[in-house]
Amino acid sequence: MQGIVKPRVCTLPFLAPLISRELCLNNTAAVVVSSIRQYAVVPPTCDPKEKAMLARMLRVDHAGEYGANRIYAGQMAVLGRTQIRPLIQEMWDQEKKHLAKFNEVLAENRIRPTALLPLWNCAGFALGAASALLGKEGAMACTVAVEESISEHYNSQIRALMEVDPDRYTELLQMIVEFRDDEMEHHDTGLANDAETVPGYWLLKNVIQAGCKAAIYASERV
Ligand SMILES: [Fe+2]
Ligand SMILES: [Fe+2]
Repeated sequence: MQGIVKPRVCTLPFLAPLISRELCLNNTAAVVVSSIRQYAVVPPTCDPKEKAMLARMLRVDHAGEYGANRIYAGQMAVLGRTQIRPLIQEMWDQEKKHLAKFNEVLAENRIRPTALLPLWNCAGFALGAASALLGKEGAMACTVAVEESISEHYNSQIRALMEVDPDRYTELLQMIVEFRDDEMEHHDTGLANDAETVPGYWLLKNVIQAGCKAAIYASERV
């Protein structure tokens, strides 16, 4: 093996395709293979089954981020003049970025959003506002419930894409993993800010999560 330098292994597998791979032979000649892809997040496909799978996935993700934005808007409408404002604003700002990215991805790939957006608009705002009426703790309990559901949803998508073809979906996986990490951070922020102290926490959490499951189910199909 002397004289042969092994290809550099990227320690961040999701970034690997974005990085030019150096193959150095005999320590002298270097062949640089550029593997920057021609698309932003979703690989182009003519396979109707793959198209349908990706459309379903991205449509429900977009709906989730849209709903999350409306929930934070509702919380802000009630708690916007309290000390908790900066914390809610910070999480909301991240949701705005998530939604903007999914808007872009849907447009790029000509995927229509769910027809249920008007419903999620009202339901999200109402849930955010109602939870905030229970006080800061109520808003945080809502955040914990919703963010846990969204994190689990993203985790199931990550598992599915990894099973199908992790190389093909590298960029999409990278985006979902990043957003999943943000959602988990929001979840932890809720817990750190007394979510569990609101009266009826477990009931509230379970009711909200049942609603999230129903919303995910519907948004994948309509
Ligand atoms: Fe999000
Ligand atoms: Fe979030």
